[in-house]
Amino acid sequence: MSKYIFGRPIGKLIHGGDYNPEQWLDRPDILKADIELMKKAGINEATLGVFSWSVYEPREGEFHFEWLKEVMDRLYENEIYSIVATPSGARPAWMDLKYPEVMRVDGMGIRNRHGMRHNHCLSSEVFREKIGIIDRKLAESIGSHPGLLMWHISNEFGGECFCDNCKNRFREYLRVKFNNDIEELNRQWWTTFWSARYESFDEIEPPYDNGQRAVMGLNLEWKRFTTWNFADFAAFEIDTVRKYSGRYDIPVTTNMMKQYDGIDYRVLAKQIDTISWDSYPEFHNDRESYADTMRESAFDHALMRGLKRGQPFMLMESTPGVVNWMEYNKLRRPGVHIQFSLQALASGSDTVQYFQFRKSRGSAEQFHGGVVDHVGTDDTRVFREVARTGAMMKELSDIEGTLWNAKAAVLFDWDNWWAIEGTGGFAKTTRNYPQTCIGYWKMLSELGVEADVISAEDPFDGYSLIIAPMMFLLREEAADKIKEYVSCGGTILGTYMMGYINENCLCHLGGFPGAGLSDVFGIISEEIDTLYPTDTNAIRITDDRFGKSDWTVKDYAEVIKVKDANIIGVYTQDYYRDLAALTYKEYGKGVAYYQAARCNPEDIREFLGAVLDAAGIEAKDVPKGIEYHRRRDDEKSYDFYLNISDDTITIEGCELAPKESLVVRTGADGSVRHMRVTV
Ligand code: GAL
Repeated sequence: MSKYIFGRPIGKLIHGGDYNPEQWLDRPDILKADIELMKKAGINEATLGVFSWSVYEPREGEFHFEWLKEVMDRLYENEIYSIVATPSGARPAWMDLKYPEVMRVDGMGIRNRHGMRHNHCLSSEVFREKIGIIDRKLAESIGSHPGLLMWHISNEFGGECFCDNCKNRFREYLRVKFNNDIEELNRQWWTTFWSARYESFDEIEPPYDNGQRAVMGLNLEWKRFTTWNFADFAAFEIDTVRKYSGRYDIPVTTNMMKQYDGIDYRVLAKQIDTISWDSYPEFHNDRESYADTMRESAFDHALMRGLKRGQPFMLMESTPGVVNWMEYNKLRRPGVHIQFSLQALASGSDTVQYFQFRKSRGSAEQFHGGVVDHVGTDDTRVFREVARTGAMMKELSDIEGTLWNAKAAVLFDWDNWWAIEGTGGFAKTTRNYPQTCIGYWKMLSELGVEADVISAEDPFDGYSLIIAPMMFLLREEAADKIKEYVSCGGTILGTYMMGYINENCLCHLGGFPGAGLSDVFGIISEEIDTLYPTDTNAIRITDDRFGKSDWTVKDYAEVIKVKDANIIGVYTQDYYRDLAALTYKEYGKGVAYYQAARCNPEDIREFLGAVLDAAGIEAKDVPKGIEYHRRRDDEKSYDFYLNISDDTITIEGCELAPKESLVVRTGADGSVRHMRVTV
């Protein structure tokens, strides 16, 4: 696979999005106008057919793809590519009525009724058969169309199904996983507890809401199974469109969601060629600043970029205006759309795409933003911002395929997240694993370091610093990799809750962090204290190479025993006052830092700066209100400076008002070009 997302450089960044011509087939005038409007907006791609099954196959066995082909023809004549989706995201009514098993069953064992979307059973043979037929017909109809750029498999896979088919499939999955050895499963799941033992795989049920939920290994494996089932389903759809179009060169993707906890995206990512995702940050909310929303959005891009290291990704959906499903659907202020789009590009996306090109006239999404509003013209603020985005992308077209090689990484793992959320103990509402990872990532970003976000299972090569927040679930292999990484010269920062359990939720014995990591860090975590929001404590920094001020402690504080680590900071209060709270140990050629308590990211800024220095990572010296990114290849590099603050900031001699940005292109020949992106 080439580093380019489409398998080949197409010489332009993709600017486009979901387009639903099937909603307007009785309005040829509108379909005609759309092409002109797309051209005016600098749009060169349309994502088609995401939920079109009931138009493709209105009655069982009767197929209509002529309209799709016609639309693709017209788009292509106008140099607009098509990304075509398989329609498994929503089903026609006839199918649910005739074959009820295709509808999902919820956690109480109750089957859904027909309607809505994203609610098919992944294990149903009938559904596989039906999707196999429609995907085949679709591939045969338009698979060789010259305008076809990519397959978009289904839409935002998600949810769970607890039907009998899924239950049986889960049992089969477990049989394979545990080598048909029920005793091994009993051992790994610690079922000799509340009489939870199983005598055979046929006794195992999914963790129904009104059933067995006390076995942590079962709960975790059910989530892994759901991921496996989605990946298997995606593979089936991918094989089908490839086989029946005969086009093995057309890449495939499936659109992912922001910090979605239902699927381990790293597993799903292995099925597809290119990562794509849908981003809808809640700008201008009443909880955080614009800068905070932007930095979290940048983290989200890094998380997606990390799913296929070394490749650009796609921003498959975003709204050019408002969404319609948030608590408050506030308008994006002028300039936000352009800066948000630039952020995606700066973070490694080769596309800016929208949901949706034209607003639908009725049904659930009629008031969701679109490039073209119900007024139907180009004379709107949103349209103008989209057109300006298109023009900006044209100017930036040679960033296509360029990359960012990060020197720092933050670990983030889905099954660790599930394990943290699923376990007893701690506090119910403050576990906050993603938020904690985001906190470290944001702080690095504020220090001018753009980190990758990777899994503990990914290779660590190329990184000088790895931050492993709350690595509660620790596999032996990951522990060995960390040992090797640090002993060969890497720097790691581990935190409270590290290495408590293995991949089946069994506690590591012999001291946390387990699997040998307590030797790497030189400490043993003996107890963990859960703090009420009103409790106070602090870490006093005692080694002034790492800063001077006290750090506020909140939520979690481990009481640790120092074996052979050096103390950087101690607690200031409670019975563990004066005991170590922040340590480091030189291990082999590297260094292992341990932060035993949760602190405000802001407080650890100086410490993190010192850690970066010691790890030899050069931070870009930018003012706090500037978000910095870089993309490069052998011929050029691009530096992106986004003013996400409320103040005017001067960068490289250029005054940037709030929400303005500067892009600097430096050629290998020494040429420098400045591009200012205004509000
Ligand atoms: C996405 C979905 C789209 C559309 C959009 C609205 O999650 O894939 O089909 O519903 O949300 O924001």
